[in-house]
Amino acid sequence: MVKICCIGAGYVGGPTMAVIALKCPKVEVVVVDISVPRITAWNSDTLPIYEPGLDDVVKQCRGKNLFFSTDVEKHVAEADIIFVSVNTPTKTRGLGAGKAADLTYWESAARMIADVSKSDKIVVEKSTVPVKTAEAIEKILTHNSKGINYQILSNPEFLAEGTAIQDLFHPDRVLIGGRETPGGQKAIQALKSVYAEWVPEDRIITTNLWSAELSKLAANAFLAQRISSVNAMSALCEATGADVAEVSHAIGKDSRIGPKFLNASVGFGGSCFQKDILNLVYICECNGLPEVATYWKQVIKVNDYQKTRFVNRVVASMFNTVSGKKIAVLGFAFKKDTGDTRETPAIDVCKGLLGDNARLSIYDPQVNEDQMQRDLTMNKFDWDHPIHLQPMSPTSVKQVSMVWDAYTAAKDAHGICILTEWDEFKTLDFQKIFDNMQKPAFVFDGRNIVDADKLREIGFIVYSIGKPLDPWLKDMPAVA
Ligand code: NAD
Ligand code: UDX
Repeated sequence: MVKICCIGAGYVGGPTMAVIALKCPKVEVVVVDISVPRITAWNSDTLPIYEPGLDDVVKQCRGKNLFFSTDVEKHVAEADIIFVSVNTPTKTRGLGAGKAADLTYWESAARMIADVSKSDKIVVEKSTVPVKTAEAIEKILTHNSKGINYQILSNPEFLAEGTAIQDLFHPDRVLIGGRETPGGQKAIQALKSVYAEWVPEDRIITTNLWSAELSKLAANAFLAQRISSVNAMSALCEATGADVAEVSHAIGKDSRIGPKFLNASVGFGGSCFQKDILNLVYICECNGLPEVATYWKQVIKVNDYQKTRFVNRVVASMFNTVSGKKIAVLGFAFKKDTGDTRETPAIDVCKGLLGDNARLSIYDPQVNEDQMQRDLTMNKFDWDHPIHLQPMSPTSVKQVSMVWDAYTAAKDAHGICILTEWDEFKTLDFQKIFDNMQKPAFVFDGRNIVDADKLREIGFIVYSIGKPLDPWLKDMPAVA
Protein backbone atom coordinates (compact mmCIF):
# COMPACT_ATOMS: atom_id res chain seq x y z
CA MET A 1 0.00 0.00 0.00
CA VAL A 2 1.35 3.43 -0.97
CA LYS A 3 1.52 5.72 2.04
CA ILE A 4 0.94 9.44 1.65
CA CYS A 5 1.54 11.96 4.39
CA CYS A 6 0.52 15.61 4.03
CA ILE A 7 2.12 18.20 6.29
CA GLY A 8 -0.42 20.98 6.88
CA ALA A 9 -4.11 20.29 7.55
CA GLY A 10 -5.42 23.61 6.25
CA TYR A 11 -7.75 24.75 3.46
CA VAL A 12 -5.61 22.96 0.89
CA GLY A 13 -4.14 19.96 2.76
CA GLY A 14 -7.45 18.84 4.31
CA PRO A 15 -9.76 18.84 1.26
CA THR A 16 -7.07 17.69 -1.21
CA MET A 17 -6.05 14.71 0.87
CA ALA A 18 -9.67 13.80 1.63
CA VAL A 19 -10.36 13.61 -2.12
CA ILE A 20 -7.19 11.58 -2.79
CA ALA A 21 -8.28 9.14 -0.06
CA LEU A 22 -11.77 8.89 -1.53
CA LYS A 23 -10.57 8.31 -5.08
CA CYS A 24 -7.66 6.01 -4.17
CA PRO A 25 -8.97 3.50 -1.62
CA LYS A 26 -5.73 1.54 -1.86
CA VAL A 27 -3.64 4.49 -0.71
CA GLU A 28 -3.29 5.34 2.99
CA VAL A 29 -3.43 9.08 3.56
CA VAL A 30 -2.43 10.76 6.84
CA VAL A 31 -2.75 14.52 7.24
CA VAL A 32 -0.55 15.92 9.99
CA ASP A 33 -0.35 19.34 11.61
CA ILE A 34 1.36 21.00 14.54
CA SER A 35 -1.93 22.63 15.48
CA VAL A 36 -3.70 20.41 18.02
CA PRO A 37 -7.09 22.21 17.78
CA ARG A 38 -7.05 21.85 14.00
CA ILE A 39 -6.40 18.11 14.10
CA THR A 40 -8.96 17.65 16.88
CA ALA A 41 -11.53 19.41 14.71
CA TRP A 42 -10.67 17.26 11.66
CA ASN A 43 -11.35 14.21 13.85
CA SER A 44 -14.68 15.61 15.12
CA ASP A 45 -18.13 16.22 13.65
CA THR A 46 -17.35 19.91 13.19
CA LEU A 47 -14.56 20.20 10.65
CA PRO A 48 -12.22 23.20 11.03
CA ILE A 49 -13.23 24.67 7.66
CA TYR A 50 -16.58 25.16 5.98
CA GLU A 51 -16.56 23.84 2.43
CA PRO A 52 -19.61 22.47 0.61
CA GLY A 53 -19.38 18.68 0.16
CA LEU A 54 -16.32 18.29 2.39
CA ASP A 55 -18.13 16.68 5.35
CA ASP A 56 -19.45 13.97 3.12
CA VAL A 57 -16.05 13.11 1.61
CA VAL A 58 -14.36 13.06 5.02
CA LYS A 59 -17.10 10.88 6.53
CA GLN A 60 -16.68 8.31 3.75
CA CYS A 61 -12.94 7.76 4.30
CA ARG A 62 -11.97 8.92 7.81
CA GLY A 63 -10.80 5.95 9.88
CA LYS A 64 -10.53 3.77 6.75
CA ASN A 65 -7.72 5.17 4.63
CA LEU A 66 -7.81 8.80 5.78
CA PHE A 67 -6.34 9.85 9.13
CA PHE A 68 -5.60 13.15 10.87
CA SER A 69 -2.79 13.25 13.40
CA THR A 70 -0.43 15.50 15.34
CA ASP A 71 2.24 12.81 15.33
CA VAL A 72 4.02 14.56 12.50
CA GLU A 73 7.38 12.78 12.70
CA LYS A 74 6.00 9.23 12.85
CA HIS A 75 3.83 9.63 9.76
CA VAL A 76 6.47 11.51 7.79
CA ALA A 77 8.96 8.73 8.54
CA GLU A 78 6.52 6.07 7.32
CA ALA A 79 5.39 7.80 4.11
CA ASP A 80 6.46 7.14 0.52
CA ILE A 81 5.08 10.44 -0.76
CA ILE A 82 5.07 13.57 1.43
CA PHE A 83 2.98 16.56 0.42
CA VAL A 84 4.00 19.83 2.03
CA SER A 85 1.00 22.11 2.30
CA VAL A 86 2.02 24.53 5.02
CA ASN A 87 1.31 28.25 4.94
CA THR A 88 3.70 30.46 2.97
CA PRO A 89 2.78 33.95 4.19
CA THR A 90 4.12 37.32 3.16
CA LYS A 91 7.18 38.33 5.20
CA THR A 92 6.35 40.93 7.82
CA ARG A 93 9.90 41.90 8.72
CA GLY A 94 13.46 41.84 7.42
CA LEU A 95 14.58 41.49 3.82
CA GLY A 96 11.63 41.65 1.42
CA ALA A 97 9.12 42.53 4.17
CA GLY A 98 5.65 43.19 2.77
CA LYS A 99 6.40 41.32 -0.46
CA ALA A 100 8.59 38.22 -0.27
CA ALA A 101 7.22 34.83 0.78
CA ASP A 102 8.12 33.79 4.31
CA LEU A 103 9.43 30.25 3.96
CA THR A 104 10.01 29.68 7.69
CA TYR A 105 7.27 27.04 7.93
CA TRP A 106 8.39 25.42 4.68
CA GLU A 107 11.99 25.22 5.77
CA SER A 108 11.16 23.79 9.19
CA ALA A 109 9.01 21.12 7.50
CA ALA A 110 11.89 20.27 5.13
CA ARG A 111 14.40 20.03 7.98
CA MET A 112 12.03 17.81 9.92
CA ILE A 113 11.68 15.50 6.88
CA ALA A 114 15.47 15.30 6.67
CA ASP A 115 15.70 14.53 10.40
CA VAL A 116 13.19 11.70 10.61
CA SER A 117 13.40 9.97 7.21
CA LYS A 118 14.86 6.49 7.02
CA SER A 119 13.65 5.52 3.51
CA ASP A 120 13.53 7.14 0.05
CA LYS A 121 10.87 9.84 -0.33
CA ILE A 122 9.07 11.82 -2.95
CA VAL A 123 8.55 15.30 -1.52
CA VAL A 124 5.76 17.26 -3.19
CA GLU A 125 5.45 21.04 -2.99
CA LYS A 126 1.73 21.66 -2.60
CA SER A 127 2.09 25.09 -1.03
CA THR A 128 2.45 28.05 -3.37
CA VAL A 129 6.13 28.97 -3.30
CA PRO A 130 8.57 31.29 -5.10
CA VAL A 131 10.22 29.92 -8.22
CA LYS A 132 13.33 27.91 -7.36
CA THR A 133 12.08 26.88 -3.89
CA ALA A 134 12.45 23.25 -4.94
CA GLU A 135 16.17 23.86 -5.34
CA ALA A 136 16.41 25.20 -1.78
CA ILE A 137 14.48 22.24 -0.41
CA GLU A 138 16.63 19.85 -2.40
CA LYS A 139 19.72 21.41 -0.82
CA ILE A 140 18.35 21.06 2.72
CA LEU A 141 17.39 17.45 2.12
CA THR A 142 20.50 16.30 0.26
CA HIS A 143 22.92 18.03 2.66
CA ASN A 144 21.28 16.09 5.51
CA SER A 145 20.40 12.96 3.58
CA LYS A 146 22.10 10.06 5.37
CA GLY A 147 22.13 8.23 2.02
CA ILE A 148 18.40 8.64 1.43
CA ASN A 149 17.19 9.47 -2.07
CA TYR A 150 14.79 12.42 -2.28
CA GLN A 151 12.89 13.48 -5.37
CA ILE A 152 11.25 16.90 -5.24
CA LEU A 153 8.12 17.58 -7.26
CA SER A 154 6.09 20.73 -7.67
CA ASN A 155 2.34 20.04 -7.73
CA PRO A 156 0.63 23.39 -7.11
CA GLU A 157 -3.02 23.43 -6.14
CA PHE A 158 -5.59 25.35 -8.18
CA LEU A 159 -8.73 24.76 -6.11
CA ALA A 160 -10.83 27.78 -5.18
CA GLU A 161 -12.52 27.96 -1.80
CA GLY A 162 -16.26 27.43 -1.76
CA THR A 163 -15.96 25.06 -4.72
CA ALA A 164 -12.92 23.10 -3.50
CA ILE A 165 -14.50 19.65 -3.65
CA GLN A 166 -15.90 20.09 -7.15
CA ASP A 167 -12.58 21.63 -8.29
CA LEU A 168 -10.73 18.61 -6.89
CA PHE A 169 -13.18 16.12 -8.42
CA HIS A 170 -13.03 17.76 -11.86
CA PRO A 171 -9.83 19.80 -12.13
CA ASP A 172 -9.19 21.81 -15.30
CA ARG A 173 -5.70 20.39 -15.02
CA VAL A 174 -3.29 18.81 -12.57
CA LEU A 175 0.23 20.16 -12.91
CA ILE A 176 3.29 18.14 -11.93
CA GLY A 177 6.81 19.51 -12.31
CA GLY A 178 9.95 17.50 -11.70
CA ARG A 179 13.60 17.11 -12.56
CA GLU A 180 14.39 16.02 -16.11
CA THR A 181 16.45 13.09 -14.79
CA PRO A 182 15.40 9.41 -14.81
CA GLY A 183 14.75 9.65 -11.04
CA GLY A 184 12.73 12.83 -11.49
CA GLN A 185 10.66 11.32 -14.31
CA LYS A 186 9.98 8.19 -12.25
CA ALA A 187 8.73 10.33 -9.36
CA ILE A 188 6.47 12.29 -11.75
CA GLN A 189 4.97 9.00 -12.96
CA ALA A 190 4.39 7.83 -9.37
CA LEU A 191 2.43 10.98 -8.50
CA LYS A 192 0.67 10.94 -11.87
CA SER A 193 -0.62 7.43 -11.17
CA VAL A 194 -2.31 8.72 -7.98
CA TYR A 195 -4.23 11.44 -9.85
CA ALA A 196 -4.90 9.14 -12.83
CA GLU A 197 -7.31 7.23 -10.56
CA TRP A 198 -9.90 9.92 -11.35
CA VAL A 199 -8.40 12.67 -13.53
CA PRO A 200 -8.31 12.04 -17.31
CA GLU A 201 -4.71 11.62 -18.53
CA ASP A 202 -4.92 14.56 -20.92
CA ARG A 203 -5.61 16.84 -17.96
CA ILE A 204 -2.41 15.88 -16.15
CA ILE A 205 0.32 18.19 -17.38
CA THR A 206 3.97 17.48 -16.64
CA THR A 207 6.68 20.16 -16.85
CA ASN A 208 10.05 21.01 -15.41
CA LEU A 209 10.14 22.18 -11.79
CA TRP A 210 10.47 25.89 -12.44
CA SER A 211 7.61 26.01 -14.96
CA ALA A 212 5.30 24.32 -12.46
CA GLU A 213 6.28 26.68 -9.64
CA LEU A 214 5.92 29.77 -11.82
CA SER A 215 2.65 28.63 -13.43
CA LYS A 216 0.91 28.77 -10.07
CA LEU A 217 1.97 32.38 -9.44
CA ALA A 218 1.15 33.26 -13.04
CA ALA A 219 -2.34 31.73 -12.90
CA ASN A 220 -3.26 33.68 -9.78
CA ALA A 221 -1.76 36.88 -11.21
CA PHE A 222 -3.78 36.50 -14.44
CA LEU A 223 -7.03 35.79 -12.55
CA ALA A 224 -6.55 38.75 -10.22
CA GLN A 225 -5.57 40.94 -13.15
CA ARG A 226 -8.94 40.24 -14.81
CA ILE A 227 -10.77 41.38 -11.67
CA SER A 228 -8.70 44.54 -11.37
CA SER A 229 -9.28 45.23 -15.06
CA VAL A 230 -13.04 44.98 -14.74
CA ASN A 231 -12.98 46.93 -11.47
CA ALA A 232 -11.00 49.70 -13.17
CA MET A 233 -13.69 49.72 -15.86
CA SER A 234 -16.38 49.93 -13.17
CA ALA A 235 -15.04 53.31 -12.07
CA LEU A 236 -15.19 54.55 -15.65
CA CYS A 237 -18.72 53.14 -16.04
CA GLU A 238 -19.92 55.14 -13.04
CA ALA A 239 -18.37 58.29 -14.50
CA THR A 240 -19.88 57.81 -17.95
CA GLY A 241 -23.25 56.11 -17.44
CA ALA A 242 -22.14 52.77 -18.92
CA ASP A 243 -23.14 49.61 -17.05
CA VAL A 244 -20.25 47.34 -16.08
CA ALA A 245 -22.42 44.19 -16.22
CA GLU A 246 -23.31 45.01 -19.84
CA VAL A 247 -19.68 45.76 -20.67
CA SER A 248 -18.52 42.47 -19.06
CA HIS A 249 -21.16 40.53 -20.95
CA ALA A 250 -20.25 42.18 -24.23
CA ILE A 251 -16.51 41.66 -23.94
CA GLY A 252 -16.86 38.19 -22.43
CA LYS A 253 -18.67 37.02 -25.57
CA ASP A 254 -15.36 37.38 -27.40
CA SER A 255 -14.07 33.82 -27.20
CA ARG A 256 -10.54 35.17 -26.84
CA ILE A 257 -11.57 36.95 -23.63
CA GLY A 258 -14.21 34.56 -22.24
CA PRO A 259 -16.94 35.27 -19.67
CA LYS A 260 -15.39 34.13 -16.38
CA PHE A 261 -13.85 36.30 -13.66
CA LEU A 262 -15.33 39.50 -15.04
CA ASN A 263 -17.64 40.33 -12.13
CA ALA A 264 -16.98 43.82 -10.83
CA SER A 265 -16.82 43.85 -7.04
CA VAL A 266 -15.69 45.80 -4.00
CA GLY A 267 -12.32 44.12 -4.59
CA PHE A 268 -10.82 40.67 -4.58
CA GLY A 269 -9.85 39.01 -1.30
CA GLY A 270 -8.68 35.62 -0.14
CA SER A 271 -5.41 34.26 1.10
CA CYS A 272 -3.83 33.83 -2.31
CA PHE A 273 -4.16 36.62 -4.87
CA GLN A 274 -2.48 39.49 -3.05
CA LYS A 275 0.16 37.30 -1.39
CA ASP A 276 1.10 35.56 -4.62
CA ILE A 277 1.27 38.75 -6.69
CA LEU A 278 3.45 40.43 -4.07
CA ASN A 279 5.67 37.37 -4.20
CA LEU A 280 5.79 37.59 -8.01
CA VAL A 281 6.64 41.30 -7.80
CA TYR A 282 9.49 40.54 -5.41
CA ILE A 283 10.86 37.80 -7.66
CA CYS A 284 10.79 40.19 -10.65
CA GLU A 285 12.61 42.85 -8.64
CA CYS A 286 15.22 40.33 -7.50
CA ASN A 287 15.75 39.29 -11.12
CA GLY A 288 16.32 42.89 -12.28
CA LEU A 289 12.93 43.26 -13.98
CA PRO A 290 11.47 46.46 -12.42
CA GLU A 291 9.08 47.13 -15.35
CA VAL A 292 7.54 43.69 -15.00
CA ALA A 293 7.30 44.16 -11.23
CA THR A 294 5.52 47.52 -11.66
CA TYR A 295 3.05 46.00 -14.12
CA TRP A 296 1.87 43.34 -11.63
CA LYS A 297 2.00 45.70 -8.65
CA GLN A 298 -0.67 47.76 -10.38
CA VAL A 299 -3.16 44.88 -10.04
CA ILE A 300 -2.97 45.28 -6.26
CA LYS A 301 -3.05 49.07 -6.41
CA VAL A 302 -6.31 48.98 -8.38
CA ASN A 303 -7.72 46.51 -5.87
CA ASP A 304 -6.86 48.86 -2.99
CA TYR A 305 -8.31 51.77 -4.98
CA GLN A 306 -11.57 49.86 -5.44
CA LYS A 307 -11.99 49.33 -1.68
CA THR A 308 -11.16 52.98 -0.90
CA ARG A 309 -13.52 54.14 -3.63
CA PHE A 310 -16.33 52.10 -2.07
CA VAL A 311 -15.77 53.57 1.40
CA ASN A 312 -15.59 57.09 -0.01
CA ARG A 313 -18.83 56.52 -1.89
CA VAL A 314 -20.60 55.42 1.32
CA VAL A 315 -19.34 58.37 3.34
CA ALA A 316 -19.87 60.97 0.59
CA SER A 317 -23.46 59.91 -0.08
CA MET A 318 -24.39 60.09 3.59
CA PHE A 319 -23.69 63.84 3.79
CA ASN A 320 -19.94 63.30 3.99
CA THR A 321 -19.98 61.72 7.43
CA VAL A 322 -20.93 58.42 8.98
CA SER A 323 -19.85 59.47 12.45
CA GLY A 324 -22.11 57.83 15.04
CA LYS A 325 -24.31 56.33 12.31
CA LYS A 326 -25.19 52.66 12.34
CA ILE A 327 -24.12 50.85 9.19
CA ALA A 328 -25.18 47.25 8.59
CA VAL A 329 -22.49 45.14 6.98
CA LEU A 330 -23.88 42.08 5.23
CA GLY A 331 -21.17 39.53 4.58
CA PHE A 332 -17.64 39.42 5.96
CA ALA A 333 -16.12 36.32 4.28
CA PHE A 334 -14.01 37.00 1.19
CA LYS A 335 -16.56 35.22 -1.02
CA LYS A 336 -19.73 33.19 -0.55
CA ASP A 337 -19.78 29.57 0.63
CA THR A 338 -16.75 29.92 2.85
CA GLY A 339 -16.10 31.14 6.38
CA ASP A 340 -12.61 32.26 5.38
CA THR A 341 -11.90 35.92 6.05
CA ARG A 342 -8.24 36.07 5.02
CA GLU A 343 -7.64 39.35 3.14
CA THR A 344 -11.39 39.81 2.76
CA PRO A 345 -12.23 43.25 1.32
CA ALA A 346 -14.63 43.58 4.28
CA ILE A 347 -11.65 44.24 6.56
CA ASP A 348 -10.50 47.32 4.67
CA VAL A 349 -14.05 48.58 4.10
CA CYS A 350 -14.95 48.19 7.79
CA LYS A 351 -11.68 49.82 8.88
CA GLY A 352 -12.39 52.69 6.47
CA LEU A 353 -15.89 53.22 7.90
CA LEU A 354 -14.60 52.94 11.46
CA GLY A 355 -12.00 55.56 10.52
CA ASP A 356 -14.94 57.91 9.93
CA ASN A 357 -16.39 56.85 13.32
CA ALA A 358 -19.26 54.69 12.09
CA ARG A 359 -20.97 52.07 14.26
CA LEU A 360 -21.01 48.71 12.50
CA SER A 361 -23.43 45.83 12.88
CA ILE A 362 -22.02 42.90 10.94
CA TYR A 363 -23.71 39.68 9.86
CA ASP A 364 -22.11 36.79 8.03
CA PRO A 365 -23.63 33.30 8.12
CA GLN A 366 -20.23 31.63 8.54
CA VAL A 367 -18.02 34.08 10.46
CA ASN A 368 -18.11 34.48 14.24
CA GLU A 369 -17.46 37.60 16.32
CA ASP A 370 -14.04 36.47 17.56
CA GLN A 371 -12.79 36.13 14.02
CA MET A 372 -14.18 39.53 12.99
CA GLN A 373 -12.63 41.28 16.00
CA ARG A 374 -9.33 39.57 15.36
CA ASP A 375 -9.39 40.62 11.70
CA LEU A 376 -10.26 44.23 12.50
CA THR A 377 -7.45 44.61 15.03
CA MET A 378 -4.64 42.60 13.47
CA ASN A 379 -1.71 44.11 11.58
CA LYS A 380 -1.44 43.56 7.84
CA PHE A 381 -0.08 40.10 6.92
CA ASP A 382 -0.15 38.83 10.54
CA TRP A 383 -3.18 36.65 9.77
CA ASP A 384 -1.15 34.01 7.96
CA HIS A 385 1.05 33.19 10.92
CA PRO A 386 0.13 30.63 13.60
CA ILE A 387 -1.86 32.11 16.46
CA HIS A 388 0.97 31.73 18.96
CA LEU A 389 3.15 33.93 16.73
CA GLN A 390 0.50 36.60 16.31
CA PRO A 391 0.62 39.78 18.41
CA MET A 392 -0.88 39.76 21.92
CA SER A 393 -4.60 39.15 22.09
CA PRO A 394 -6.17 42.05 20.23
CA THR A 395 -8.40 44.51 22.01
CA SER A 396 -11.89 44.52 20.57
CA VAL A 397 -13.28 47.36 18.50
CA LYS A 398 -16.13 48.82 20.53
CA GLN A 399 -18.08 50.31 17.63
CA VAL A 400 -18.49 46.85 16.10
CA SER A 401 -21.17 44.35 17.00
CA MET A 402 -21.91 41.03 15.40
CA VAL A 403 -25.43 39.74 14.94
CA TRP A 404 -26.84 36.50 13.58
CA ASP A 405 -29.29 37.77 10.95
CA ALA A 406 -29.53 40.48 8.32
CA TYR A 407 -32.73 42.02 9.70
CA THR A 408 -31.20 42.67 13.13
CA ALA A 409 -28.09 44.09 11.48
CA ALA A 410 -30.18 46.54 9.45
CA LYS A 411 -32.58 47.60 12.23
CA ASP A 412 -32.30 51.39 12.80
CA ALA A 413 -29.33 51.51 10.44
CA HIS A 414 -28.71 54.46 8.11
CA GLY A 415 -27.14 52.31 5.43
CA ILE A 416 -26.39 48.74 4.37
CA CYS A 417 -23.13 47.59 2.77
CA ILE A 418 -23.28 44.24 1.00
CA LEU A 419 -19.73 42.90 0.98
CA THR A 420 -20.15 39.15 0.31
CA GLU A 421 -22.44 37.66 -2.34
CA TRP A 422 -24.21 35.12 -0.06
CA ASP A 423 -27.31 33.79 -1.87
CA GLU A 424 -29.54 34.55 1.13
CA PHE A 425 -28.95 38.29 0.65
CA LYS A 426 -30.67 38.13 -2.75
CA THR A 427 -33.99 37.04 -1.25
CA LEU A 428 -34.18 39.31 1.79
CA ASP A 429 -37.49 41.11 2.45
CA PHE A 430 -36.16 44.57 1.64
CA GLN A 431 -39.52 46.24 2.33
CA LYS A 432 -39.35 44.97 5.92
CA ILE A 433 -35.74 46.12 6.15
CA PHE A 434 -36.59 49.57 4.75
CA ASP A 435 -39.44 50.03 7.21
CA ASN A 436 -37.06 49.51 10.14
CA MET A 437 -34.24 51.77 8.93
CA GLN A 438 -33.43 55.45 9.38
CA LYS A 439 -34.35 57.61 6.36
CA PRO A 440 -33.04 58.27 3.84
CA ALA A 441 -32.08 54.60 3.71
CA PHE A 442 -29.08 53.55 1.63
CA VAL A 443 -27.91 50.27 0.12
CA PHE A 444 -24.33 50.03 -1.13
CA ASP A 445 -24.07 46.82 -3.10
CA GLY A 446 -20.41 45.78 -3.32
CA ARG A 447 -21.27 42.57 -5.18
CA ASN A 448 -24.08 43.68 -7.52
CA ILE A 449 -26.49 41.04 -6.25
CA VAL A 450 -29.65 43.01 -5.44
CA ASP A 451 -32.25 44.25 -7.91
CA ALA A 452 -31.48 47.96 -7.63
CA ASP A 453 -34.63 49.07 -9.47
CA LYS A 454 -36.89 47.15 -7.07
CA LEU A 455 -35.08 48.62 -4.09
CA ARG A 456 -35.46 52.12 -5.52
CA GLU A 457 -39.21 51.51 -5.87
CA ILE A 458 -39.30 50.70 -2.14
CA GLY A 459 -37.54 54.00 -1.45
CA PHE A 460 -33.87 53.09 -1.02
CA ILE A 461 -31.01 55.10 -2.45
CA VAL A 462 -28.91 52.44 -4.11
CA TYR A 463 -25.28 52.32 -5.17
CA SER A 464 -24.27 49.36 -7.32
CA ILE A 465 -20.63 49.05 -8.40
CA GLY A 466 -20.09 50.18 -11.97
CA LYS A 467 -23.79 50.90 -12.66
CA PRO A 468 -25.40 54.19 -13.69
CA LEU A 469 -25.61 56.35 -10.58
CA ASP A 470 -28.71 57.44 -8.67
CA PRO A 471 -29.26 61.22 -9.01
CA TRP A 472 -28.60 61.44 -5.27
CA LEU A 473 -25.14 59.93 -5.69
CA LYS A 474 -24.36 62.18 -8.64
CA ASP A 475 -25.02 65.17 -6.39
CA MET A 476 -22.65 63.80 -3.73
CA PRO A 477 -19.46 63.04 -5.65
CA ALA A 478 -16.84 60.93 -3.91
CA VAL A 479 -13.22 61.81 -4.41
CA ALA A 480 -11.14 58.60 -4.36
P1 NAD B 1 -3.56 27.09 6.11
O1 NAD B 1 -2.98 28.15 6.94
O2 NAD B 1 -5.05 26.87 6.13
O3 NAD B 1 -2.89 25.69 6.49
C1 NAD B 1 -1.53 25.51 6.69
C2 NAD B 1 -1.34 24.57 7.87
O4 NAD B 1 0.04 24.20 7.96
C3 NAD B 1 -1.71 25.18 9.23
O5 NAD B 1 -2.74 24.40 9.84
C4 NAD B 1 -0.39 25.13 10.04
O6 NAD B 1 -0.59 24.83 11.41
C5 NAD B 1 0.33 24.00 9.34
N1 NAD B 1 1.78 24.02 9.53
C6 NAD B 1 2.64 25.06 9.41
N2 NAD B 1 3.90 24.65 9.64
C7 NAD B 1 3.85 23.32 9.92
C8 NAD B 1 4.82 22.32 10.24
N3 NAD B 1 6.13 22.64 10.29
N4 NAD B 1 4.40 21.06 10.49
C9 NAD B 1 3.08 20.73 10.43
N5 NAD B 1 2.12 21.63 10.12
C10 NAD B 1 2.49 22.91 9.87
O7 NAD B 1 -3.08 27.36 4.62
P2 NAD B 1 -3.78 26.92 3.24
O8 NAD B 1 -4.83 27.89 2.86
O9 NAD B 1 -4.12 25.47 3.31
O10 NAD B 1 -2.58 27.14 2.24
C11 NAD B 1 -1.46 26.30 2.24
C12 NAD B 1 -0.61 26.61 1.01
O11 NAD B 1 -1.39 26.35 -0.17
C13 NAD B 1 -0.16 28.06 0.90
O12 NAD B 1 1.10 28.08 0.32
C14 NAD B 1 -1.18 28.66 -0.06
O13 NAD B 1 -0.65 29.74 -0.76
C15 NAD B 1 -1.46 27.51 -0.99
N6 NAD B 1 -2.77 27.54 -1.64
C16 NAD B 1 -3.89 27.91 -0.95
C17 NAD B 1 -5.14 27.88 -1.58
C18 NAD B 1 -6.40 28.27 -0.84
O14 NAD B 1 -7.43 28.40 -1.47
N7 NAD B 1 -6.37 28.47 0.46
C19 NAD B 1 -5.24 27.45 -2.90
C20 NAD B 1 -4.09 27.07 -3.57
C21 NAD B 1 -2.86 27.12 -2.92
C1 UDX C 1 -8.06 31.62 -6.00
C2 UDX C 1 -7.93 30.94 -7.37
O1 UDX C 1 -9.17 31.06 -8.07
C3 UDX C 1 -7.57 29.48 -7.20
O2 UDX C 1 -7.34 28.88 -8.47
C4 UDX C 1 -6.28 29.40 -6.36
O3 UDX C 1 -5.94 28.04 -6.16
C5 UDX C 1 -6.47 30.09 -5.03
O4 UDX C 1 -6.86 31.47 -5.26
P1 UDX C 1 -9.93 31.70 -4.13
O5 UDX C 1 -9.13 32.84 -3.61
O6 UDX C 1 -10.31 30.61 -3.20
O7 UDX C 1 -9.15 31.00 -5.35
O8 UDX C 1 -11.30 32.25 -4.76
P2 UDX C 1 -11.67 32.98 -6.14
O9 UDX C 1 -12.94 32.40 -6.60
O10 UDX C 1 -10.56 33.01 -7.09
O11 UDX C 1 -12.01 34.47 -5.66
C6 UDX C 1 -10.99 35.34 -5.18
C7 UDX C 1 -11.59 36.71 -4.92
O12 UDX C 1 -11.93 37.36 -6.14
C8 UDX C 1 -12.86 36.69 -4.08
O13 UDX C 1 -12.85 37.76 -3.17
C9 UDX C 1 -13.96 36.88 -5.12
O14 UDX C 1 -15.13 37.44 -4.60
C10 UDX C 1 -13.27 37.83 -6.10
N1 UDX C 1 -13.82 37.80 -7.46
C11 UDX C 1 -13.79 36.65 -8.19
C12 UDX C 1 -14.33 38.96 -8.01
O15 UDX C 1 -14.36 40.02 -7.36
N2 UDX C 1 -14.82 38.93 -9.30
C13 UDX C 1 -14.81 37.80 -10.05
O16 UDX C 1 -15.25 37.84 -11.21
C14 UDX C 1 -14.27 36.62 -9.48
